[in-house]
Amino acid sequence: MEKIILTGDRPTGKLHLGHYVGSIKKRLELQAENDFSKMYVMIADSQALTDNFDNPVKIRESIKEITLDYLACGIDPKKVTIFIQSMIPELTEYTFYYLNLVTLARLERNPTVKSELEQRNFNNTIPVGFLCYPVSQAADITLFRATDIPVGVDQLPMIEQTNEIVHKFNSLYGETLVPCKAILPDNETSFRLPGIDGKSKMSKSLGNCIYLSDDSKSVYEKVMKMYTDPDHININDPGKIEGNVVFTYLDVFANQSHFEKYLPDFKNLEELKLAYQKGGVGDVKIKKFLYNILEELLTPIRERRSKLEENIDSIYEVLKVGTRNAQIVAKKNLEEFKKAMQIDYFN
Ligand code: TRP
Repeated sequence: MEKIILTGDRPTGKLHLGHYVGSIKKRLELQAENDFSKMYVMIADSQALTDNFDNPVKIRESIKEITLDYLACGIDPKKVTIFIQSMIPELTEYTFYYLNLVTLARLERNPTVKSELEQRNFNNTIPVGFLCYPVSQAADITLFRATDIPVGVDQLPMIEQTNEIVHKFNSLYGETLVPCKAILPDNETSFRLPGIDGKSKMSKSLGNCIYLSDDSKSVYEKVMKMYTDPDHININDPGKIEGNVVFTYLDVFANQSHFEKYLPDFKNLEELKLAYQKGGVGDVKIKKFLYNILEELLTPIRERRSKLEENIDSIYEVLKVGTRNAQIVAKKNLEEFKKAMQIDYFN
């Protein structure tokens, strides 16, 4: 079977380190492996509008920012089709027919939607569009016949719901749609990268992010503010690793060559952890080490981003070309879809 990769992001702000380790890194790996017949990255503006319909300007601005972030990270528009969801009207059409195949009770059971509803305090004022976004996500995936969906665990309920719709559609109208599977990140810490406050996931609304576009000075200040071990007051006090954000980040980002370059007193992370736990390693030392590692990752991204910012037209050109390509595929697949449903009346 053809391998078609599709994934998406809601454009609600610039990308941060949590996005990088949780999804961008995987996409870059998949892009480099080159083992697919198509790879799509969709900017899910319609989905973002389901809970930001009162602020379309934020979505509009974020489409540009997120595209800058993609290209700065190295997503290559020659290999990957980057497109804008709302510019594919076929998606809305699929969604409309899929709504018949899903019950209200099933939507209300979706655990990700459930927790999002709680976070947003909708209470009795749940917008129907928001509740139904998993159905529209099933359209995103199936319209492009995507088989492999790189996402985090929070998106598993969407994949499950998509496959239920696929199954239902195929049993009613004949084998037409292809099922899909999630491609999960390699390790869970990467997906739940905590914010610099250590309280929870890195998230814009909590103000605990390091953005891919942050300048060196902000990265330095944020790393210096990172939550470590509140009982580790003097250098010689024993320090805790658990819940210590600096060590969580080192687990995710540090490798052997970083030790050789920036902290040659220690052979590897194990040795550093033991020394910290014993006492004698200061927080500033581990923070400076982490800062150097992050700068090594972020500097080239930042430099590419500022070059790209000089020519914003080229960003929109990438989106135009990607969207045009996606439109061609969408049009063709919709025809088959309608034929299966026998609503292609003039054929
Ligand atoms: N729900 C995803 C998120 O919040 C975004 C998304 C929309 C998506 N459509 C998709 C992801 C299709 C994968 C496939 O991040």
